[in-house]
Amino acid sequence: MQEDHSGKKFVGGRWMDEQTFKRILMNKERIPDPMRYKKEAMHYRRAGKSGLKLPEVSLGLWHNFGSVDNFEVMRDMIFTAFDNGICHFDLANNYGPRGGSAEENFGRILRESFSSYRDEMCISTKAGFGMWKGPYGDGGSKKYLTASLDQSLSRLGLDYVDIFYHHRPAPETPIEETCYTLHRLVEQGKALYIGISNYDRAQTEAAVEVFRELKTPFILNQSCYNLLDRRVEEDGLKRYAEEQGFGLIVYSPLAQGLLTDKYLHGIPEDSRIRKSFTLKEEKLTPSLQNKLEALRAVARERGQTLPELALSWVLKDRAVASVIIGASSSEQILENIRVNPLFTEEELARIEEICKAE
Ligand SMILES: NC(=O)c1ccc[n+]([C@@H]2O[C@H](COP(=O)([O-])OP(=O)(O)OC[C@H]3O[C@@H](n4cnc5c(N)ncnc54)[C@H](OP(=O)(O)O)[C@@H]3O)[C@@H](O)[C@H]2O)c1
Repeated sequence: MQEDHSGKKFVGGRWMDEQTFKRILMNKERIPDPMRYKKEAMHYRRAGKSGLKLPEVSLGLWHNFGSVDNFEVMRDMIFTAFDNGICHFDLANNYGPRGGSAEENFGRILRESFSSYRDEMCISTKAGFGMWKGPYGDGGSKKYLTASLDQSLSRLGLDYVDIFYHHRPAPETPIEETCYTLHRLVEQGKALYIGISNYDRAQTEAAVEVFRELKTPFILNQSCYNLLDRRVEEDGLKRYAEEQGFGLIVYSPLAQGLLTDKYLHGIPEDSRIRKSFTLKEEKLTPSLQNKLEALRAVARERGQTLPELALSWVLKDRAVASVIIGASSSEQILENIRVNPLFTEEELARIEEICKAE
């Protein structure tokens, strides 16, 4: 093992201090795979015209990282992701449940297992949904966003996040106030880049105007997009992102698990439909099941699984900087990283026909 003059040791492809090394030895702790960038599994794309590169597949911590979930499974998922080139982790102040606990758990994993890998990670968080009681714990005001990012940094144990998002439009707050606050947070060094989330095209246009004036490093709009949800196509947001040079970063690319084989034979007890209120059983209609079956056939012909097809399809557009997947196990992450965003015209036409059928 190599050692430098200050006692730092070269382990798992990284230099680490004595304390980290001892802990790893003592806890028989796993260390990141030194081959993580050499597996050629992951490709990286620029977020719009910015210099920030993101893995085509990012990992989101909305579900399965809360105080109600198993900590060792979380740690395992972060290792699996990182070992396979997923270096972008997406959080929000309210992720849990309990709100805030996903940031706490991720912060603990960072501290215990990845303290010397911070610069290899892109970490994002958000504020915009209700987080604490009273008039200052929700919305888009300077008061709320400033306090919330401070709280997030404290839970994460970080000095800064790489991307800070306004999580949803707040019509009661002037857009200038929200955008200026985000801009100031960058100037204060608490965030490197800015994003907005769940803003439609018109709302994005209004924000872009202010960001342009301020020269804010606004680089991403985080929106829902998948084979079954086409709102970013319908309102022109995807085209606008391309024209303006910011990236679309896509959430729920698997429609919360519908675009997988999870519900092929009924509703498993360990599924999101059973465990959470964010995905309703009513979604699983016979018409959807028919679509999924037809999409599975296209996937098979391409030598893919349904989730691989669904993720590849979202990534076919250059405006898309990354897809943020969720996972409840490392196995799901491993199944979701084999993307191939090249499609023939015929495949695309068939997919459209299937998705548009009643
Ligand atoms: N900005 C926003 O407003 C917003 C909103 C939503 C999400 N997000 C971000 O986007 C991230 C991803 O969202 P999402 O979790 O809805 O994404 P998703 O990838 O569409 O759904 C993930 C869920 O699908 C199931 N799944 C994934 N891979 C599978 C596989 N290979 N086989 C079978 N089932 C599989 C798992 O559910 P089971 O638990 O059933 O196994 C998993 O938790 C979030 O964590 C968050 O970071 C942002």
